[in-house]
Amino acid sequence: MKDIKNYIQQNKDRFINELIELLKIPSVSADTTYFQDVINTSEAVKLSLEKAGCDKVEICETNGYPIVYGEKIIDPNLPTVLVYGHYDVQPPDPIELWTSPPFEPVIKKTEIHPEGAIFARGACDDKGQMYMHVKAFEYMIQSNTLPCNVKFMIEGEEEVGSVNLKSFVENNTEKLKNDVILISDTGMISNQQPSITTGLRGLSYVEVEVTGPNRDLHSGLYGGAVANPINILSKMIASLHDENNRITIPGFYDKVEDLSLEERTEMAKAPFDIEDYKKALDLNDVYGEEGYVTNERNAIRPTLDVNGIWGGYTGQGAKTVIPSKAFAKISMRLVPNQDWEEITQLFSTHFTAIAPKAVTVKVTPHHGGQGYVTPIDSIGYKAAHLAYSETFGIAPIPVRSGGSIPIVSLFEKELKSKTILMGFGLDSDAIHSPNEHFGIFNYLKGIETIPLFYKYFVELSK
Ligand code: BES
Ligand code: MN
Ligand code: MN
Repeated sequence: MKDIKNYIQQNKDRFINELIELLKIPSVSADTTYFQDVINTSEAVKLSLEKAGCDKVEICETNGYPIVYGEKIIDPNLPTVLVYGHYDVQPPDPIELWTSPPFEPVIKKTEIHPEGAIFARGACDDKGQMYMHVKAFEYMIQSNTLPCNVKFMIEGEEEVGSVNLKSFVENNTEKLKNDVILISDTGMISNQQPSITTGLRGLSYVEVEVTGPNRDLHSGLYGGAVANPINILSKMIASLHDENNRITIPGFYDKVEDLSLEERTEMAKAPFDIEDYKKALDLNDVYGEEGYVTNERNAIRPTLDVNGIWGGYTGQGAKTVIPSKAFAKISMRLVPNQDWEEITQLFSTHFTAIAPKAVTVKVTPHHGGQGYVTPIDSIGYKAAHLAYSETFGIAPIPVRSGGSIPIVSLFEKELKSKTILMGFGLDSDAIHSPNEHFGIFNYLKGIETIPLFYKYFVELSK
């Protein structure tokens, strides 16, 4: 498939400009201020699928943001690839830390991306990676090389937990029927060492509220005599880890499967430099569960983190006050076999139990999902392996990621097919952070690699 290289060379400016246009629309699903922009993005995605050559493209309404569905069925007897991606993005905050505005994409060179990277919210997660599939599909249509059927399902609520996608999938199992699911919404080790994601962590996300007195109080008149909810909440949160950084919630580890020494040895072979890692984050040291190394702590071990904590006075100057309430948002990353609903329940019971009588505690679950591991002996994995090997000239390494795409385990349950995670982002691309970007090299390499996946998947399926 030498042709794809030429096709990319001839169309690369257009590919970049089309992505830039998509990135200009602030499709922040978490914030209703952007409601119309999210809707407009779904329309833009629909149009791009039509232009690329889908026969049928629909905007499927849900109780939230719509799902864009498109398909090209060339022969019902051939295999079908279902491409999943998301057109919504994370909020851009904190906006003041961006070196250029989040929705005014610019190309800048970086140390890791000497050929330039597109800086914008969603550049890597996931508009850029989703759009690689649209352009790879365009190429296969234009060159008459599409070897099988394709279905696209691009949603607008991934960053808020894919709440409505669940029922859409449950109610449309026939429409979504496929032989393999293909997703580019993860990363790889580096541009010199590609990798294929073989695992995702599950997630349980909760919000907690601790209430002390029924109103804010003068901290002199009442201080010392009543419980300060912020003091209490801090104490409770601190107690959730022991001195070895293990989570103290009873039953939390019951279903966690310990990896064999062989598997851990295999994992340790992936190139990783702890000094570079610390340097990239300006850290003097790493931190985590005793008995595990960094790449285990963030992939095969469950964790608990406070994502935000607030209460009391945080304005200018000083105000002496004992607040009535304190809050925190807490997430737990889970590993396969841990059931997210069960973990949410364990958390809730424990967190309520450890509260002193002087306060009341409310735990509100937000969302969650199961973890996922995919075998490396499937046709899909082998096809991806061949595709990366060919375009990068190096065999990709299987890697379990710490991130979550909760819907993947639901796909397996409802659609009975495996997901292949062909990610082209890098950890340094700053997804969810200020100055998110996506390398031009990565974007174009993705477009080049995807058609090969199709080719090998169909060949190996015969
Ligand atoms: N694309 C990410 C997940 C990801 C990134 C997995 C990199 C592996 C490597 C996705 O958009 C995401 O941010 N997921 C959320 C969970 C979701 C329920 C909000 C996450 O992992 O925090
Ligand atoms: Mn994503
Ligand atoms: Mn994300």
